Amino acid sequence: MPSAARDIPIVNGHSNGRDEASLARTVSNSFGTLDLSTSPSATFHTQHSGSYGSAQKPSTKQLKPFATQDVKVLLLENVNKTGQDILRKQGYQVEALKTSLPEDQLIDKIRDVHVIGIRSKTQLSANVLKHAKNLIVIGCFCIGTNQVDLQYAAQNGICVFNSPFSNSRSVAELMIGEIITLARQLGDRSNEMHQGVWNKVSAGCWEVRGKTLGIVGYGHVGSQLSVLAEAMGMKVIYYDVVNLMGLGTATQVHTLEQLLQQADFVTLHVPELPETINLISAKEIEQMKRGAYLLNASRGSVVDIPALVSALQSGKLAGAALDVYPNEPGSNGPTFTSSKLGSWADDLRGVNNVLLTPHIGGSTEEAQSAIGVEVAESLVNYVNLGTTSAAVNMPEVTLRSLTMDEPNHVRVIYIHRNVPGVLRKVNEILGDHNVDKQMTDSRGEVAYLMADISNVNVSEIKDLYQHLEDLGSRIRTRVLY
Ligand SMILES: NC(=O)c1ccc[n+]([C@@H]2O[C@H](COP(=O)([O-])OP(=O)(O)OC[C@H]3O[C@@H](n4cnc5c(N)ncnc54)[C@H](O)[C@@H]3O)[C@@H](O)[C@H]2O)c1
Repeated sequence: MPSAARDIPIVNGHSNGRDEASLARTVSNSFGTLDLSTSPSATFHTQHSGSYGSAQKPSTKQLKPFATQDVKVLLLENVNKTGQDILRKQGYQVEALKTSLPEDQLIDKIRDVHVIGIRSKTQLSANVLKHAKNLIVIGCFCIGTNQVDLQYAAQNGICVFNSPFSNSRSVAELMIGEIITLARQLGDRSNEMHQGVWNKVSAGCWEVRGKTLGIVGYGHVGSQLSVLAEAMGMKVIYYDVVNLMGLGTATQVHTLEQLLQQADFVTLHVPELPETINLISAKEIEQMKRGAYLLNASRGSVVDIPALVSALQSGKLAGAALDVYPNEPGSNGPTFTSSKLGSWADDLRGVNNVLLTPHIGGSTEEAQSAIGVEVAESLVNYVNLGTTSAAVNMPEVTLRSLTMDEPNHVRVIYIHRNVPGVLRKVNEILGDHNVDKQMTDSRGEVAYLMADISNVNVSEIKDLYQHLEDLGSRIRTRVLY
């Protein structure tokens, strides 16, 4: 049976001069008894154990932060069931609501919880987070994290996770659908039929087999698309600022210009960066083949829309598909108009063979389900093991797991201000024990230290915890055993 691990909990009556509120940030509420968890069935099986070098041993010791029924989780905005199930299986107390909450109700609820899961509508501002005295981690069950004050969260030892890549396949499949739709002018034919017009034409309609697809940005989406496009008989070339091995027979070209000159279809899959704003403007469109197609499902700022509209109107381009826009409506409804967004919206609506979709590239049931799994697993990894892999606002730190033949080992997690001299002081405190492995990293003003130390008696853990808490640089201390 695995020997379970526990978190050092809130220590009331702390006497180092900090207010009780800041102390209450430590997760747990069941110190004192120091009894080990008796719930091996809720043991967490990490995917990350065994990373960093050595192969995973079958006798991996499963850390548990504390009696899992003490972990309170609030999920808002109808987080996917896959995510809810993973958190419930841990034995956590999960409250799942279908909607977001108004700020006053959110403040009321967030006071109590250790973990909160949200989607895009819940605003976790500094004003809300300052009431979240027990909160250690936020899961954004979506792509974006703008709704969270990431800096405030980091400075207060609250780690934030999201799921940026769970929908890559969905975007790639949409691109495939749109490539064929553009090549066959399906959008226009369908619109005509809806208006009662029968217009059987073949001029300007093409098969995609044998055509060249130019992928700009060969990351998660671009590389998925590459595989699918080749399966349809397309020749794939790609341009990326990084040298990347192509999948299948896809070939990297050295410049964007080379790609634009060769491709029949150009798809954009780059991140929004200063250098990708208006990456495709009049000059780049001029470099494209006459009669080529442009598809953008990356970010709206990547394409200069007026330049695109004029290339479509002049016949330089034979069609375009856009899923993202320079500014996008905040809600569903009749909002995609020039009066709401800018003159470009009506211009786009007025040109033939242009597919306009409301930022749905990643919006599939499968993607939502995958997001649920990815974010929930990140939350469990963080709560149970302290690992911050793929965190949005903290340095990424992980250690290989403890094993069953290491019974007197504990894992120390110390989130602290990134100021000189902290490591020396921490290591003085840890120095009475053997530090088996340690990793530390910083991100801006916040640093994250994780150390597995051995020869620790359960009775020593409280002192260890308290000494770390007493350091002036401390943001949050957790000890898992
Ligand atoms: N429409 C949607 O619903 C939807 C869904 C998911 C992702 N996206 C967007 O799609 C884009 C790509 O997503 P991803 O997950 O593949 O990202 P990613 O980070 O995996 O890949 C991006 C690639 O672009 C490359 N790159 C960066 N700057 C470049 C430049 N100037 N020129 C060429 N290549 C450059 C990077 O090296 C990387 O390989 C992002 O903007 C993302 O926000 C949109």
